[in-house]
Amino acid sequence: MEDIVTAAQPEKRKIALSGIQPSGIFTLGNYIGAVRNWNDLQDSCDCLFMIANMHTITVRQDPATLKANTYRAYANLLSAGLDPDRNILFVQSQVPAHAELGWVLDCYTMFGELSRMTQFKDKSAKNADNINAGLFTYPALMAADILLYKADVVPVGLDQKQHVEIARDIAARFNGIYGSVFTVPEPLISKSGAKIMSLAEPQYKMSKSDPNPNACISVSDKPEDIVRKFKRAVTDSEATVKRGEGRYGINNLIEIYSIAAGLTPEQVEQEFEGKGYGEFKVKVAEAVIEMLRPFRERSEDLLKNKDYLDQLQRQGAEKAARVAERTMNKVYKKVGLFR
Ligand code: TYM
Repeated sequence: MEDIVTAAQPEKRKIALSGIQPSGIFTLGNYIGAVRNWNDLQDSCDCLFMIANMHTITVRQDPATLKANTYRAYANLLSAGLDPDRNILFVQSQVPAHAELGWVLDCYTMFGELSRMTQFKDKSAKNADNINAGLFTYPALMAADILLYKADVVPVGLDQKQHVEIARDIAARFNGIYGSVFTVPEPLISKSGAKIMSLAEPQYKMSKSDPNPNACISVSDKPEDIVRKFKRAVTDSEATVKRGEGRYGINNLIEIYSIAAGLTPEQVEQEFEGKGYGEFKVKVAEAVIEMLRPFRERSEDLLKNKDYLDQLQRQGAEKAARVAERTMNKVYKKVGLFR
């Protein structure tokens, strides 16, 4: 009986949306904390994945580098195994509805709540000569990205949780005024790898825009660079491969190795019991090289064919725009704007 009921009312597939900025080359943190998990979602959800290039200009960019990084980021999504026929893979600036809804939501987002965003505080400290309005209202544009597609879940790393929470608040506020227009999204954060730390300052997250090249592994780093960076990774003087409170460096390396080698953290600790950091670091590097190798090779191949990437980007944007337009029509109508 129960089976019949379930069969008669199949649960609607959830919609998942996420984005990544082409502010540099993807890091191991982006791969482990985001892109790798998106791959698993494509079987269970209707997915949209976006290159968030409009967010990137909140920090000054060289135009040619931004374009090159956008192509590379798109190629990276394909190389990670995301299928452009089963998912909508697109570049944000090619879908005008993001800018349109971003503006509308700016008017439903409070100064006070934007002031509390830790990313705004961090980025304005790092870019003191360019604390622009876009950097401040960034979360309203990110809310637009999510709400345009009625996403149920937003798979992100831990650092983006606060932005998904404000998107929930904005959606609920708008719905409270105009009725049920937006789906209130949930953040989806993986249990492991949600915050991969810098190799140079392991109390901070690994970041694409870190000026110190030894702090982060990029997905296009050559094997010899990966080995060198892991060998230099900051640890501590305890010399045991064991997780512990405040052992940021070693905790991070254990986490990275366990993901890259497909082991539990306990198994990693057992494997390296009585062994030194030198041996461990080389093993971590080797496992990461193997994890990234197919991804890196496929990306390099795809980047040789920009026409193919252009064509997929256009097709993805057209599919995204069809969905986004429906939401925009509804929003303008509710708010009282002519379209
Ligand atoms: P971005 O480009 O900084 O990062 C992309 C994704 O990678 C995750 N991530 C990490 N995960 C683990 N360890 C790390 N060290 C690490 N660094 C980054 C991020 O959490 C993110 O999931 N604002 C977003 C882009 C965005 C977006 C969106 C995301 C724009 N619109 C809509 C979701 C939904 C950003 O700057 O991510």
